[in-house]
Amino acid sequence: MSVNPLEALPIDELRRRSSTKWRKYPDDVLPLFVAETDFAPAPAITDRLRRAVELGDTGYTPPDPGIRDAYAAFAKRRFGWDVDPAHVRTTCDVMMGVVEILRSVTRPGDRVVVTPPVYPPFFECIPEAGAVVERVPLVDTGAGWKLDLPGIEASLAGGARAVLLCNPHNPTGTVHSKEELAQLADLAAAHDAVVVSDEIHGPLVQPDVAFTPFLAASSTAARIGYAVTSASKAYNLAGLKCALMVTAAEGTARVVRALPDEVEWRTGLFGALAGVAAFSPESDAWLDGLLARLDENRRLLADLLTEHLPGARYRVPGAGFLAWVDLSDFGWGDNPARTILRDAKVALHFGPLFGEEGKGHVRINFGCDPAVLRQAVERIGRLARS
Ligand SMILES: Cc1ncc(COP(=O)(O)O)c(C=O)c1O
Repeated sequence: MSVNPLEALPIDELRRRSSTKWRKYPDDVLPLFVAETDFAPAPAITDRLRRAVELGDTGYTPPDPGIRDAYAAFAKRRFGWDVDPAHVRTTCDVMMGVVEILRSVTRPGDRVVVTPPVYPPFFECIPEAGAVVERVPLVDTGAGWKLDLPGIEASLAGGARAVLLCNPHNPTGTVHSKEELAQLADLAAAHDAVVVSDEIHGPLVQPDVAFTPFLAASSTAARIGYAVTSASKAYNLAGLKCALMVTAAEGTARVVRALPDEVEWRTGLFGALAGVAAFSPESDAWLDGLLARLDENRRLLADLLTEHLPGARYRVPGAGFLAWVDLSDFGWGDNPARTILRDAKVALHFGPLFGEEGKGHVRINFGCDPAVLRQAVERIGRLARS
């Protein structure tokens, strides 16, 4: 059955938003940088938040706001993954969950592997947890990106204590295969290390791609892995502050249970209420509509780049609303987004923030109206021809 793609809100309406996407730059700039999307919320979320606002239901989050069960049911429906709600604990946001788990499983100065180009806060959250970043870049196979498993093995053999995985991967949109994830788990287990898997983009895997939550990759992955996720990316709820730390074994669950209560107290009530609505079956049709829109836009971007920026290198991502584009042939230096912002009035995310592999690259957020995407690429195309 074909699904109608979700329509984005009109840009004039979006410019009334007060979030960073719409406030960081003046109105003559098209904002395609930070990972916010341009759609009206799923109706179940709007209803739930409206009721809460009307009631002044703006206090602290109770111990079990219902999101553990809602997420377990969502994981089963969408990924075929059995999550035990008793093995889910909430916190403020995904990065806080990652920091607190890393702080628990490493000692000060321990090394933690990241796989750049990768979501820039990964480089900061590891030192925040008292550990040290160890870079093992993704491998470009010519057809896609893959984890450098031999490189990760060497790091673990050399004493790295953890791998901070991005599954699916931001910024490339790579969805790691079950086999790769199971191999990663074996490597970590062999060296008595753990894997912390950031799965915030998991709900945004396209239906033509198989998504394996890390903890579902193998029994070893279930034993040594921690997943941190949220409704916030798929449903654009980043300002509401609720994320989930998920485990699948007694040992890892004990680590998460032992985190200070304060880590859980920081969960936003609106985030939890919105998350329950997001993960409910009522919101599935909205999510399917979003995926259909993103599917169209990820392909449209390929056509637009061919037409207006031949020489740009882009692979259609398997998940999410972010595109990783190599513009190094255009003479715009290591950070093309800076020139594009100044001279084309389009805000893209700066490639070098994702690691040195990001030189010459930009990250484009295509979670918007196709007309906005078209206008943005046309503006950049005019700059390239000038
Ligand atoms: C991979 C990844 N992790 C975490 C986040 C941020 O999540 P949170 O705001 O819940 O910390 C993002 C936001 O774009 C992301 O792409």
